[in-house]
Amino acid sequence: MAHKILVATGGGDCPGLNAVIRGIVKRASLEKEEWKIYGCIESFNGILKDDVEIVELTEEMVSGLHVKGGTIIKTTNKGGPFHFPVRRQDGSWEMEDRSTLMKRRFENMGFDAVINIGGDGSQRISLQLLNIGIPVVGVPKTIDNDLSSTDFTFGFQTAVQIATEAFDKLVTTAESHNRVFIMEVMGRDAGWIALHTAIAGGADVCIIPEIPYNPEVVAKKIETRYKDGKGFCNIVIAEGAKRVGGDVVGHAPTAVGDRHIKLGGVGDVLKQELVDLGVGHDIRVTVLGHLQRGGTPVAYDRILATEFGVKAFELVKEKKYGNLVVYRHPEISYVPLEEAVKEPHLVRYDDYLVHTAKGIGMVFGDESI
Ligand code: F6P
Repeated sequence: MAHKILVATGGGDCPGLNAVIRGIVKRASLEKEEWKIYGCIESFNGILKDDVEIVELTEEMVSGLHVKGGTIIKTTNKGGPFHFPVRRQDGSWEMEDRSTLMKRRFENMGFDAVINIGGDGSQRISLQLLNIGIPVVGVPKTIDNDLSSTDFTFGFQTAVQIATEAFDKLVTTAESHNRVFIMEVMGRDAGWIALHTAIAGGADVCIIPEIPYNPEVVAKKIETRYKDGKGFCNIVIAEGAKRVGGDVVGHAPTAVGDRHIKLGGVGDVLKQELVDLGVGHDIRVTVLGHLQRGGTPVAYDRILATEFGVKAFELVKEKKYGNLVVYRHPEISYVPLEEAVKEPHLVRYDDYLVHTAKGIGMVFGDESI
């Protein structure tokens, strides 16, 4: 009888998800024994819904898929096996624990294991599934690069590339119009996208969630740029940034089952703070948003995602369940899920990248006035 693996992609989409799926299917097809790979549609909703949605992923289906962005098996960052949204008769919603149903279906369908491709939230679900007796292997994904057990997650380099190209475009228009540009990038808790983009693009100011900013410091840097004759200023800010003593900017989630605050708008808040401080130059804000997650993965992410896919299959084959595939230079390896979800990977103040940025005069908003 064929071995069977159920693959799910969870959380926000991310360039490289399809390359992982392709890696799993291709690697499995090389085995002497028969392995069948199935995609669970829209994360675990496919196995949790009343009408199950699970598709077999054939070699033909994954051919050339490493180049394609998004995920062919869909994803969601709402709900999950332990908080599945169910509509009551009065039209309101309640969260139902459908994990027992999931386990029963998983066993009845004869699956050997689950490969769950997702970020920290998804890997917490992987751990919960493991704890109820479902054999799981996790694969880390997120453009934010905020998982501590792996040097890099796939999708991150693509997001940085997209943000850097956008930044380069804003620099030329800032220079032509003598403007201040604030570019808001993704980065809920971690400022990695902002920091990498700021260094690659040559920003004057970089504001990240880990280092609360003082608007007066930013205003001073802007004035220095104009006094020194540069005549324009470019700022990168992560969506999760907050001013000293302040809070993140966003709004409560509106979608059913979504428990995360929707970040966005900190760039506009900073603009207003600068105006209030008397910065008289023309200040414009650009929010990159989901552009950073869309489209084709860069070569680096295609490679990393393929490595992760191959390794994930091999861990299942070796029955090394309960682990997250990781990249720890120079190896593709694995760590227990429990360890993997313990702490996020945040920018530390003593990180060499912060040191480098400060070394070329970049301001983070925490400097003394
Ligand atoms: O975790 C990745 C991420 O892109 C964050 O940077 C961002 O806050 C979040 O997803 C937004 O997700 P969505 O708009 O899909 O809810």
